[in-house]
This record gives sequence, C-alpha cells and structure tokens, in this order.
Amino acid sequence: MDVVGPLERGLAVLRVMSAPGGHRMRLSDLARATGLARSTVDRVVATLVHLGHLREIDREVELAPPLMEPGNAYLAGCGVPAALGPVAERLADEFDESVSVAVPDGDGVRFVTQITRRRTMSLAFRIGDLLPAERCAPGPLFAAEWDEDARAAWLARRASPERLPEHFPAVPARPPVEAEEFDRRVARAVAEGWSADDQLIEPGLIAVAVPVRDPSGRTACAVSVVSHTSRHTVASLAEATLPRLREETGAMEAALARVLAEHTSGGPGAAAATAVGADPARTAKRELGPEFLQSLARGLTVLCALDGTRSLSEVAESTGLARATARRALLTLEHLGYVEHVGRGFRPLPRVLELGYAHLSSLGFAEIVQPHMADLVRRTHESASMAVLDGDEIRYVARVPAYKIMSVDITVGTRLPAYATSMGRVLLASLPHAELAARLAGADPRAITGRTVTDPAELAKIVEGAAERGHAFVDEELEEGLRSLAVPVRDGAGQVVAALNVATHAARGPVEETLAALLPPLTETASRIEADLRAVTRGRRLRLP
Ligand code: PHB
Repeated sequence: MDVVGPLERGLAVLRVMSAPGGHRMRLSDLARATGLARSTVDRVVATLVHLGHLREIDREVELAPPLMEPGNAYLAGCGVPAALGPVAERLADEFDESVSVAVPDGDGVRFVTQITRRRTMSLAFRIGDLLPAERCAPGPLFAAEWDEDARAAWLARRASPERLPEHFPAVPARPPVEAEEFDRRVARAVAEGWSADDQLIEPGLIAVAVPVRDPSGRTACAVSVVSHTSRHTVASLAEATLPRLREETGAMEAALARVLAEHTSGGPGAAAATAVGADPARTAKRELGPEFLQSLARGLTVLCALDGTRSLSEVAESTGLARATARRALLTLEHLGYVEHVGRGFRPLPRVLELGYAHLSSLGFAEIVQPHMADLVRRTHESASMAVLDGDEIRYVARVPAYKIMSVDITVGTRLPAYATSMGRVLLASLPHAELAARLAGADPRAITGRTVTDPAELAKIVEGAAERGHAFVDEELEEGLRSLAVPVRDGAGQVVAALNVATHAARGPVEETLAALLPPLTETASRIEADLRAVTRGRRLRLP
C-alpha cells in the first residue's frame, strides 16, 4: 500500500524514544537505534521539535508533554478513564489498595487508569504500559474473547521469548508460561467471571480483576485490585474485594455506555475544539523549508483528531486537511497498528499510548516545569522560581538559580509572606473576591523593608491591578535591591495553580526597561508550561508538590 514514509519514520523515532532509557537521546544514537540516515533523523526531529512533541536540550532531544495529545485523544474516545476513573478512585479508597483499569491490546494488556496505593516496594505500572496477557490478572479475561488470529499471534509471540523485553519493556523477563496453563486460567475466568495474578509479574505482587463490558457485550476493559502477599493471599484478596467489584460492575458498565453515547452523538469533541480548522503544517513548511516534514506533521494532527470513531469527512474537517491527505494518513496509521477501520469510520487503538505516554504521564510537576524555567534563565540571565499559595504565604515548588555572585537564599520549600512578593500577589489575585478580602484582613502585613506596602486597602488595590494586568511587579518591598516580576500559571481547567517569577537586582536599570526585558520571556514561558500542564492533566488531577 501507499504508506506515507515520513509519518512512518517519525513514528519509528518516537517509538525508539519511548523505549526504556530512550526519552532523552543524542541524534547520532537516534540514527543508530532507528537505522535511519542521520539527515532523515535531523528532519524528523526538526519537525517534531517544531510541533512541540520533542524538545532540544543541550545536544540531545527529549520527549515533551504535548506528545501526549494523541494518547489523550485515544483515552477520551475510548471513554474508559472518564467512565471508570471515579469508581476506581472510590474503590481504591475503600480497599486501601491500588486499583487499575486496563484495556485489551493485541495479545497484551494496556493500562489506561492507575490509582496507586502501593506501600511495599514493587513495580508500579504507568498509564500506557503494556503487559503480556499471560502475566497479569486481566489477560485471561481478554483472551476469552480472542479470535483465531489473535490466538495465533499470541502463540507466535510466545515462540520467540527473546523478543519479550522489546515488546513488554515494563515487565521483568521470565521464562514463557505454558500454553495449557494459560488456557486453564482463561477457562476459569470464563466460568467464574474474574481472574487472578498470583505473582506472575514479580514475587509478592498479586491482583484480581473483573471484566467491564461495553454496550455491545464485548469486554472493554478490566478493573484490577492490586495487593501484596504481605497483606493478602489471592484468595483473601478475592474474598475482600470481589463482592464489591461485582456490585459496582453494573454502574461501571452504565457509566461507560453513557460516556460512549455522549461521545458519538456530540460529533467531533475535544479534538475538534482544539483544532484550528486550517492546516498549520503549511505555515510551518513556509518557515522551516525542507527541514519540515509536512506529511509527518499532518499524520500526527490526524492522530490527535481521532477522539473516537470518526469518518474521513469529520477528520478532514476538524484538521483542515484535504480528504485525500487525511485518507493517506489514516491508512498509514492503520497499517502501522495505531488506527482501526470500523464501518465507515476510523478509530484510534490503545497502541497510540506506546508513543511516549507512559514516560510523560509519570512526570512530576517539577520535572515538567524545570526545562522551561532553565530556558527562561538562559534567556534572561536571572533566577526563576515557581510558588504556590499556602495559607498567607507562598511556598516555593521549583527554582532555577542564575549563576551570579549575589544570589538570594531561596530553595524549594522556602516560604515567604504572600503580600510582599510578586508571586504572592498574582496568586492572591486569582482568589474569589471574598476570600481575597479575608486573607488580606488576616495577613497582618508588616514592613519588611522601608518600601513594603502594609496598608490593607492599598494592598487590595495592588492585587486588583495584578489581576487586571496579568502580572505583578515588586520593587524592593521584600528585600533591599531585589525586584521581582511574576505571572500566573494555569492548569488545563483554567485555574491558577502556581506563579512563575524572575528576580532581578534594582541596579539592573530603570524599572520600565526591566519590565520590558523580562515580561515577554516570562509570559511566553508561562504559556509553554501551561501547554505542558494541559497535556499531562487532560482528564486527570495534577499533583502539586
Ligand atoms: C497493576 O495495576 O499494577 C497490576 C494490574 C494487574 C496485575 C498486576 C499489576 O496482574
């Protein structure tokens, strides 16, 4: 068939970088690992960097959170996290054990939701991780519905155990399981309606799983409760959790049906809302010339637009691509196993999550913001910090110092009074009116330097001004000689979750010049951080440090 070469090569690069240890690589290593020409790798990387899916750091490239968008579209379309996430949270609380939700993916089992409560040292899987069906609790539930081709693929894969680490990098290698043994587990799963994992992944780790069906009666996913032999045997875990899991199955199936119905009737949903409707690859091509692989960019745009089953026309419309272009991309993605043809439409397959999702979804807040802050420091030659509001104080959650002789004694965890700091003022500015008034009234502001504003009415006016302007500037109110400029950072829901600032010395020059030099890079950095936060928090809560 007529495969779109650059798209195929771009996905090959992303797969190599999604393997363990690959999330940050030198271009020469990337060329070696993919077997692609160095000039091809250069062009693929330039394109992926332009799209924001990779970023360059020193002489290496690294996976970046916007690469989660295709996976986010898949997860939105499959409906499972939205429908089952809340129930899984509740069950994890109730059992005080980890609860996960996984979907069938070929002869594997791929995680789409993880609520982790793991106390003993054991593997914790990430969203997007893939397990072999024979090594986990959900596997037999899914294998019960395999057709002949699927079973043949499983048998063939088992026949070459040396390739196991390459297929399933998330699990420690073990000798292959006997086919008869797995068949017995499948038969038992069918007869009893649940399945277990008695330390098939690693010693101590046990799990029980129940199937959750979609409206057509097929097993859409499995909910697992995961424990450890220090707390349970498989029998006692089953006894403690199965009755409740069974009680909740009806509600989970109803929730899934509801989410899927909303998704279909609403037409193109989340993806279309973010699509611009005009092909952005064309503009990029004009800017970057031959280094930009238009068909790779378009293929990834198509993948991001597939939030459920979409017809060719819907995909063309929501991406702004010509039908023929969208069709070639879809057929290439189908050929590579990321998309499946259903009726008159196409839908994304769980394999989309293999593209960096597990690594990126496990990044912590500090890891997400740090590279952006380092870039801000490089551009401004000033120290950058992030803080959250904590009572009447701000608490530093990330910091990148500029290398200067004079540096302020601040580290992650440092607390300062909110009223006297630029970050405090933008954070206060995000509060509802009544709450702001209460905080200012209770803050008991004191003069820290001769310039500190302490009058509550005046502070209220300053905070209001910060809200209007979208930034706050503090000139020697916290410390003689210290100026700082801060902007708010919002999460995917538009809520201000933190503030970002740069601090500078009063001797740097007139206030207007300082503002003119620092505000643009600061605002730009905040919006890049926000884009990353949007990608990593789609449908999930962000855990702030
Ligand atoms: C997990 O969610 O970590 C998990 C699920 C099923 C298993 C093992 C681990 O069989």
